[in-house]
Amino acid sequence: MAQLWGGRFTKETDQLVYNFNASISFDQKFFAQDIKGSIAHATMLGKTGIITEEESAQIVEGLKSILSDVENQKLEIGMQYEDIHSFVEATLIDRIGDTGKKLHTGRSRNDQVALDMRLYTRDEIENIKELLKNLMNTLHKLMKENVHTYMPGFTHLQKAQPVTFAHHVGAYMEMFKRDYSRLCDIYERMNYCPLGAGALAGTTYPLDREMTASLLGFNGPTLNSMDSVSDRDYIIELLSALSTICMHLSRFSEEIIIWNSNEYQFIELDDAYSTGSSIMPQKKNPDIAELVRGKTGRVYGALISIMTTMKGIPLAYNKDMQEDKELTFDAIDTVKGCIALFDGMISTMKLNKKNMQKSAMNGFTNATDAADYLVKNGVPFRDAHSIIGRLVLYAIEQNKAIDELSLDELKSISPVFNEDIYEAISLETCVEKRNTIGAPGPEAMKTVIEKNEEFLKNI
Ligand code: ARG
Repeated sequence: MAQLWGGRFTKETDQLVYNFNASISFDQKFFAQDIKGSIAHATMLGKTGIITEEESAQIVEGLKSILSDVENQKLEIGMQYEDIHSFVEATLIDRIGDTGKKLHTGRSRNDQVALDMRLYTRDEIENIKELLKNLMNTLHKLMKENVHTYMPGFTHLQKAQPVTFAHHVGAYMEMFKRDYSRLCDIYERMNYCPLGAGALAGTTYPLDREMTASLLGFNGPTLNSMDSVSDRDYIIELLSALSTICMHLSRFSEEIIIWNSNEYQFIELDDAYSTGSSIMPQKKNPDIAELVRGKTGRVYGALISIMTTMKGIPLAYNKDMQEDKELTFDAIDTVKGCIALFDGMISTMKLNKKNMQKSAMNGFTNATDAADYLVKNGVPFRDAHSIIGRLVLYAIEQNKAIDELSLDELKSISPVFNEDIYEAISLETCVEKRNTIGAPGPEAMKTVIEKNEEFLKNI
């Protein structure tokens, strides 16, 4: 047992209690952030004269050596310490002697851990943004290449109207753009420094909180010391944003699984992104898409877990809050893995454009356009809807598509039909003439693709 306290105790901590309480097994993950925070704190202590400049320099030197030794695996983080803060402080004292004992002046582990977690999640937000950016670049490429790749659009998983692959992928592009901007918003809101809040009530030392905040790249110090040590809102916001990213990836995965199925064959996943069966030799399974879909539950779990943990905690710090770490780390690592693998999977999959097009041509995806044709020829829409309904029924009986019926057959349902109906309901017309903003037509897509290009250039 190696802990930072004990003076007022007359008994050793029970070993089980110690183990239950200790956090080193997981908070070692932010050793670098903990040391950087301490370097800023020690620098400020020196500049403000709370400790001498020499002491400050000695502490900073010692901390830097610990950081580089851990990074270069010359120093192992010992599991006998209660937490990462204890490990760093004990190692510092070990290396530089009594001066090391001055590092914790005007600081508590409560503001220290609040800082570490912010620094860690802030760094990870940047990493996740980068992964999302890569994914969006993959989607952007797919969009540019598939403006004329026709496929059925679905509602209720029933064929509805034809769209293009670019248009379908473009829907996810919009979702990931929102996810990206959500992360930027969270970053902005969380980017205030809790260091200096002390245990809960600040300190009587003349700490320069503006200085530590600016040394660590924050917009400024937090404004209430009790809130500073007990606020975990930003983690909830982050886990909510991560849950939404997972939800988007999961929906997309579900479609990949459907498109990759034997029945659809719209796409084929690369061998490198598929797995086999131990018994059925013919199988090539979309495990990555399934895992991404499955891991979504785990990230939602983290969100619900922290929301529940936080709901009954009185101000200020309580040990319950230590529970924020494992689940946040796990959610972050899970989401990073999901984005990277999903990106690899969709950038290597092959499109079966012929099958997509064939599928877009049956299932009466042009029925709305047939009704619109009648409307343009003077039939009120409600009547046109019912005429085409009867026409579809007739075509189903004949086992034909609408455009496979002869003009005589069409005219027998409505005399308004003329030779130009075939052009009006061709797959090309149904897609290429839909050019209102946001629609699948190539003119509309061109504008969107240009906007996306601009967006990706500026992030
Ligand atoms: N391991 C603790 C946590 O994660 C660090 C803060 C400990 N503070 C305390 N007063 N025991 O929350």
